Amino acid sequence: MERSLVLVKPDGVQRGLVGEVISRLERRGLRLVAAKFMWVPKDLAEKHYAEHLGKNFYPGLIEYITSAPVMAMVWEGPRAVLLVRQTVGKTDPLEAAPGSIRHDFGLVKGRNLIHASDDQPGSAEREVSLWFKPEELVTWSRELDRWLME
Ligand code: RTP
Ligand code: MG
Repeated sequence: MERSLVLVKPDGVQRGLVGEVISRLERRGLRLVAAKFMWVPKDLAEKHYAEHLGKNFYPGLIEYITSAPVMAMVWEGPRAVLLVRQTVGKTDPLEAAPGSIRHDFGLVKGRNLIHASDDQPGSAEREVSLWFKPEELVTWSRELDRWLME
């Protein structure tokens, strides 16, 4: 079982797409573990996107992610990291597969609606612990799980 940190970014929130994102992840069969609606403090934004420090888009990225509230969530399931990335689509909406969120709702990289943990080793775990305290992660099971997972 894997976990992935998902953020509906400020543009997704402003455009009323929080429900759409949750709905797509639920329909995929993933299980919600935690959620909070919040303004992103600058220091959290900087820690979250530390890998991009020094790149030309970094200042704009920090401004973007702190410009309005985000919906932060943790989703889990078998192979959840790559499954969520697939539902989200590639960074540039033009390259995102048809049917993915970034394809269906996005135009440009800098307003691509959603974040999901990548599959670098330790990345998802680092992000989940950056955004959520252990006690905020809900352990539960669904009756449906036996029809979704072997
Ligand atoms: P994210 O971390 O937000 O889920 O996106 P990602 O893995 O698909 O892409 P990443 O390379 O981690 O980039 C983080 C975010 O920075 C913005 N970006 N802008 N203008 C540019 O060239 C550029 N490149 C990246 C995007 O908002 C991207 O989601
Ligand atoms: Mg990334």
